[in-house]
Amino acid sequence: MGEIPDPFREKRRTDGVVGLPSDDEVIPMILRHEDVRKAAKDWKTFSSDAPRRVPIPSEEHLRTVRQLPLEIDPPEQTEYRKLVEPFFLRAKQPAFIAQVENLTDRMLTEALGRESLEAVGEFALPLQSRALTILLGVPESEAERFIGWGVHVFHGEHGVQQGAALEHYLNEQFDRAAANPGDDFYGVLTTANFRGRPLTREELLGFANIMFAGGRDTIIHSVACALGYLAEHPEALEFLRADPDRIVHASEEFFRAYMPLTHIGRVCPVDTNVHGMQVQAGDRATLCWASANLDEEVFDAADEVRLDRKPNPHVSFGFGAHLCLGAPHARTVLRTLLAGLCRRVERISLLSKQDRIEHTPAYDRQLGYESLHVRMMPLTGGAV
Ligand code: HEM
Repeated sequence: MGEIPDPFREKRRTDGVVGLPSDDEVIPMILRHEDVRKAAKDWKTFSSDAPRRVPIPSEEHLRTVRQLPLEIDPPEQTEYRKLVEPFFLRAKQPAFIAQVENLTDRMLTEALGRESLEAVGEFALPLQSRALTILLGVPESEAERFIGWGVHVFHGEHGVQQGAALEHYLNEQFDRAAANPGDDFYGVLTTANFRGRPLTREELLGFANIMFAGGRDTIIHSVACALGYLAEHPEALEFLRADPDRIVHASEEFFRAYMPLTHIGRVCPVDTNVHGMQVQAGDRATLCWASANLDEEVFDAADEVRLDRKPNPHVSFGFGAHLCLGAPHARTVLRTLLAGLCRRVERISLLSKQDRIEHTPAYDRQLGYESLHVRMMPLTGGAV
């Protein structure tokens, strides 16, 4: 028995699919690595052209706009994507990485000066929020507002009000950019040209919405899980310190093992048989990235975390046309954090934790932490 709980193992081996009851449908959830990748490339059968229904549960009550370029198919998706791709690629540039290093260093200095900290709310959330300001190209002080929204801002009982608050905030940003467009995210989009015309306000909001919704829990969760793992495996930091080239592989392995998005849906435009389950035209199927990442046909000892795993063809950032645009940013944040920990932290002690469980009628999946209390000890001879 490995250390990554795998609620999909049996069904993946036997049927390759499991039914997920949702509203008035039972949604087939595709489980095998090969099948998930195939479906992700086949947008004619498994379409993303379904505003606010691609995430499951649906977000029809949470937002009014279609997330772009996520909730649309090629060829429009390809054209929308081209508008923002260069922007997201900034996260690979040395100047961008240096800014994230500076941020991480300041946050580690603060963490090392404390007796203990709750790593989800007091480290992962502010790190994600401040790193997002670097990606957006706005002042870091803006992050205080994002931090104030809390960890699970767009879910739960306050999700609807928070969704409206986000839309209001984004409208303010686009008003500002329309009056005086700079080279930040809002300015770049405001001056973008789509098929010979500027983007509409609805399209602008669709692009911006996913920056906040898609890039938030995912990074918070990945950072918290990496910290939790290092706290529970004290030898792991030594292993990474011994050869910093391992940091790249370790980051990919954390993304694989602790995939924050269990699955993402598609709509079948025509009646479709999904591994023996019948889907009526207009109903949904869903791609279970988390199960694909644990497929023993592809990964040796799939339920073990191996920090030097390679190759590592995980699908945590999706596959095909919608491959995550935020992946370079997420990678920069996690790699920079691991490098900073290696440089400055001797050990992370686990004080207490409360696991977070995703409960559904089809599976329960451990998904990071509700809370994670740790103490960071400085590396003797390292910078404090
Ligand atoms: C660990 C962090 C992240 C994970 C695991 C993740 C995962 C994913 C996945 C699985 C998809 C594909 C969705 C699909 O096929 O339906 C995706 C798409 C996307 N993600 Fe991420 N994401 C992460 C971080 C981010 C960040 C930080 C941002 C932006 C700030 C972001 C923005 C996007 C966008 C814009 C798309 C849509 C791309 C398209 O449709 O062409 N993601 N992400």
